[in-house]
Amino acid sequence: MALVDVSRIPQHVAIIMDGNGRWAQARSKPRTAGHERGADAVRATMRAARRLGIPALTLYAFSEQNWDRPEAEINALVDLLCECLVSERNELLDNEIRLSAIGRLHKLPQHAQSRLLSLSEETESCKGMTLTLALSYGGREELIDAARALASAARDGEIKPEDIDEAAIDRCLPSMDLGPVDLLIRTGGEKRISNFLLWGSAYAELYFTNQLWPDFDANSLYSAVLDYQGRERRFGLVPEVEEEETAREARRELERAV
Ligand code: IPE
Ligand code: IPE
Ligand code: MG
Repeated sequence: MALVDVSRIPQHVAIIMDGNGRWAQARSKPRTAGHERGADAVRATMRAARRLGIPALTLYAFSEQNWDRPEAEINALVDLLCECLVSERNELLDNEIRLSAIGRLHKLPQHAQSRLLSLSEETESCKGMTLTLALSYGGREELIDAARALASAARDGEIKPEDIDEAAIDRCLPSMDLGPVDLLIRTGGEKRISNFLLWGSAYAELYFTNQLWPDFDANSLYSAVLDYQGRERRFGLVPEVEEEETAREARRELERAV
């Protein structure tokens, strides 16, 4: 396996952890068994990301739309979250991982909110990596909340509509606290964004794998990072060689002119 280039590590990796249900179904187990194995994959991925020196890892754990799933599955997911917030405490502290969360967190049951808050506070000074859990999260919902905040500020005379620029919107989006997404991974074979980080993924490199989330491990993350390192990110500009060629051509023109 090729070596990961440590000088070109993506600064923000986001993962749509999909395929838990299918993993369980393939083994004639209830969907919840897939979610439980998915939690093991979270631990493996978190460790691997930390080892690679990725500063920010954002995981899509529960979408705003997932609230419409059967109640039993939702309860199992919330219980699993609460268990993990206890069982992974030392893992986070030992590895200097700060916990953060984005989404309409007020919709989570009170006990889940308190555990989330207390572990976030406990890990507040951890500097190794920030692990952000997207819970009750939707990219559109986050943009709606930002639009409401900006509209209220404009109504109250705190900002002028013409002052609203990219930076102003960035400031209103909690998902932008750690900067835009460099690498967006989706497991489970589907090739869609499913309302994840819509604004922050504007120039993300997309990586889709058929692997189901419970099977994802450190090597899967390395493969994704290696693939990312083989990409040329242009951000709407021309490729570097062409740019040099254009500059050389302009210089030649200038020399001919004098
Ligand atoms: C992703 O796996 C986990 C959550 C959405 C909470 P799914 O539960 O969507 O699994 P599939 O896509 O049905 O296999
Ligand atoms: C996206 O997966 C949400 C999470 C991984 C939390 P879904 O399974 O909910 O997305 P769709 O339904 O395939 O678009
Ligand atoms: Mg799914």
